[in-house]
Amino acid sequence: MATATLEPLLAVRGIHTCYDQSHILRGVDLTVRPGETVALMGRNGMGKTTLIRTVMGLVPARQGRILVDGADVTGEATFRIAARGLAYVPEGRGIFATLSVRENLAIAHEGRGKASDWSLPRVLELFPRLAERLDNGGDQLSGGEQQMLAIARALLTNPRLLILDEATEGLAPLIRDEIWRTVGVIRAAGIATLIVDKNVAALTALADRVVILVKGEVAFTGTPGELTATPERMQHLLGV
Ligand SMILES: Nc1ncnc2c1ncn2[C@@H]1O[C@H](COP(=O)(O)OP(=O)(O)O)[C@@H](O)[C@H]1O
Ligand SMILES: [Mg+2]
Repeated sequence: MATATLEPLLAVRGIHTCYDQSHILRGVDLTVRPGETVALMGRNGMGKTTLIRTVMGLVPARQGRILVDGADVTGEATFRIAARGLAYVPEGRGIFATLSVRENLAIAHEGRGKASDWSLPRVLELFPRLAERLDNGGDQLSGGEQQMLAIARALLTNPRLLILDEATEGLAPLIRDEIWRTVGVIRAAGIATLIVDKNVAALTALADRVVILVKGEVAFTGTPGELTATPERMQHLLGV
């Protein structure tokens, strides 16, 4: 993809993030260009979720800057950052258990008062299972259906960057394949994605670029081919 010349959609520059006395992120840089698929990898506890939460303004950065389309959004409220075109599907998905599928989708839909490229019919075409479950409660869905609902809800906000944390965690193999297929469709639609997942093969097959965190620092950034070319390094960085 000829994205190298485009201005970054998201630019993370020298970010430090702490939880009380624990210094977690130590000068992280990350760039996502328009339409680019970036895999954020690293073993458990290396700071992937913390980085995403810092980008979304859910945890404050101690130092460094977050830029969206070149504008400094460091310290901005989460809803303002989201309004710039970033949608975040957290680990655990954040589905409203007491609301129906239809109501969960309506929340995203009504949150925006403008004509949307991702209409309800279009997301239901992408996730036919949800179409069959519109009147089911969020708590009646399988894990895979909850993840589909969370992604569908994110798409209805018409994001330019979709952030998926632990995209297929805890899901059955067939459902995982279904999620990867939809990520492919989202990618083909020109939406940039930042994806965390433990499935290295699925991620390297899909991503334009890979960024690996080790103890809150970027230990690798490059193409999937550059990563897989040296299995020893991959083993060292990811433990796979
Ligand atoms: N709310 C929190 N308070 C204190 N420490 C936290 C909190 N959340 C995460 N951590 C710590 O920060 C480090 C990075 O965690 P996290 O960003 O969740 O890693 P990852 O997503 O890569 O598994 C871990 O050592 C974790 O224990
Ligand atoms: Mg995490």
